[in-house]
Amino acid sequence: STANSAPNTFVHCLPSHRIIHQFLHQTNTSFSSVLQAYIRNLRFNTSTTRKPFLIVTPFHVYHVQAAIVCAKKHNLLTKIRSGGHDYEGLSYVASQPFFILDMFKLRSIEIDMETETAWVEAGATLGEVYYRIDEKCKTHAFPAGVCPTVGVGGHICGGGYGNMMRKYGLSVDNVIDAQMFDEQGRLLDRKSMGEDLFWAINGGGGASFGVVIAYKVKLVRVPETVTVFRVRKTLEQNATDITIRATFVALFLGDSKSLVSLLIDKFPQLGLKQSDCIETSWLGSVLFWTNINITAPVEVLLNRQPQSVNYLKRKSDYDIQFQFNSYGGRMAKIPLTETPFPHRAANLWKIQYLANWNKPGKEYMTPFVSKNPRGAFFNYRDLDLGIKNCNGKNSYAKGRVYGVKYFKDNFNRLVQIKTKVDPHNFFRNEQSIPAPTYQKLLE
Ligand SMILES: Cc1cc2nc3c(=O)[nH]c(=O)nc-3n(C[C@H](O)[C@H](O)[C@H](O)COP(=O)(O)OP(=O)(O)OC[C@H]3O[C@@H](n4cnc5c(N)ncnc54)[C@H](O)[C@@H]3O)c2cc1C
Ligand SMILES: *[C@@H]1O[C@H](CO)[C@@H](O)[C@H](O)[C@H]1NC(C)=O
Ligand SMILES: *[C@@H]1O[C@H](CO)[C@@H](O)[C@H](O)[C@H]1NC(C)=O
Ligand SMILES: *[C@@H]1O[C@H](CO)[C@@H](O)[C@H](O)[C@H]1NC(C)=O
Ligand SMILES: *[C@@H]1O[C@H](CO)[C@@H](O)[C@H](O)[C@H]1NC(C)=O
Repeated sequence: STANSAPNTFVHCLPSHRIIHQFLHQTNTSFSSVLQAYIRNLRFNTSTTRKPFLIVTPFHVYHVQAAIVCAKKHNLLTKIRSGGHDYEGLSYVASQPFFILDMFKLRSIEIDMETETAWVEAGATLGEVYYRIDEKCKTHAFPAGVCPTVGVGGHICGGGYGNMMRKYGLSVDNVIDAQMFDEQGRLLDRKSMGEDLFWAINGGGGASFGVVIAYKVKLVRVPETVTVFRVRKTLEQNATDITIRATFVALFLGDSKSLVSLLIDKFPQLGLKQSDCIETSWLGSVLFWTNINITAPVEVLLNRQPQSVNYLKRKSDYDIQFQFNSYGGRMAKIPLTETPFPHRAANLWKIQYLANWNKPGKEYMTPFVSKNPRGAFFNYRDLDLGIKNCNGKNSYAKGRVYGVKYFKDNFNRLVQIKTKVDPHNFFRNEQSIPAPTYQKLLE
């Protein structure tokens, strides 16, 4: 379908006109504001960035189903957007004509303290999840990312890590059920999708397999008082011999006295003092980590707009000597194949480069990072991976290049699952898991 005929074809396919009101055509007055509402990288907020021919904003799960069935019938490219934080904008940008399935209205959070679990819909933000958990109980939490505006949908399906990773692992290490639509428009849960597909959408990315509606997560316990600190060391203070300044930020699930005595023993070089420490609630620590004054009203976590939006490019690596996010703890105990996320034991750190286009840290860091394969974190999407060493025609060969960096040996299992559940590659994007049988048909 062309960009001109696609919207009409699509709308006419719909089973009920009531759903039409959830469709925004490029001519609708709110089209631009809805599109821009979840653009989190200004590189993709330009007048030349290709726009979707439609934005679908389902507020009922069956609107999602209608969109999938009609899109599949007319082979329209679907981009699924939850919180819009994809570093490369893959949830709302494409080089082919496409439409956005925008999940922001599907954001209910249901917490059950009896079973210490919660169902969280894909369009919820992490800040909303944290706030709602705290509202029910001050001694429960969920291990996920630091930035409160990140969407549950993209975050969890890609793994999800945060500052409790060493204690409780990744977000996906605490997911117990899920609801998702497959390419045939069937609403599946863990039981009906089976363990393979459930495994895939807990770290292998959702956009290759279907539309995730919600995850059921296990809450974790935290003490009433936790401790945070942010300690800066300069070069003169021996922070490191390659940068000018290093900042150590921490969350400790305990009081400051215990933390200071622990670090005097385990990390004396830091020279941590009681006065560096701030005792607060777990929700207060969420504010601290995202650079919000911890005395601010916690309702700021319900704000779906970030404090600032920038032009950004991010990269990631895994290594054995430099420090950014510390691994170890629970992360080292979980087998590499437990979820698609393979960077666990043997990684001391994840490095994230917050660099811009002109100053890639890649080659500079090469001697110090993982090799064969060089690793990268799927949630830190990087379209540079996979550009080299591939013949553009063969999507499987191209997919292997980035796929092995993100998933190491788990890539093969993801390809098998993809081939089984979406053989015609309906759910796809620039870095989705390839479906080799479909590729064969094309050749
Ligand atoms: C400011 C900032 C801070 C970050 N902090 C962290 C952090 O602390 N920890 C961490 O692990 N990561 C972090 N990230 C990375 C973040 O986890 C990923 O970008 C994540 O994919 C964002 O999810 P989203 O729903 O907001 O993004 P989106 O852009 O909406 O989606 C990301 C990808 O997931 C797909 N997707 C989204 N929703 C669904 C769905 N319902 N079903 C199927 N597929 C779906 C999209 O199509 C896209 O491919 C951060 C990113 C930013 C920009
Ligand atoms: C978008 O515009 C169409 C055509 O003008 C209209 O029928 C539809 O109701 C509008 N949708 C929304 C959500 O406003
Ligand atoms: C995106 O671009 C539009 C149009 O130029 C502008 O109005 C809007 O403020 C921009 N978004 C952000 C977050 O800067
Ligand atoms: C920095 O390291 C040097 C050499 O190892 C040592 O002599 C010096 O005391 C250290 N400085 C601080 C502030 O720890
Ligand atoms: C946090 O807010 C309090 C109360 O408004 C203020 O006194 C304090 O200086 C603020 N702290 C920081 C670090 O801005």
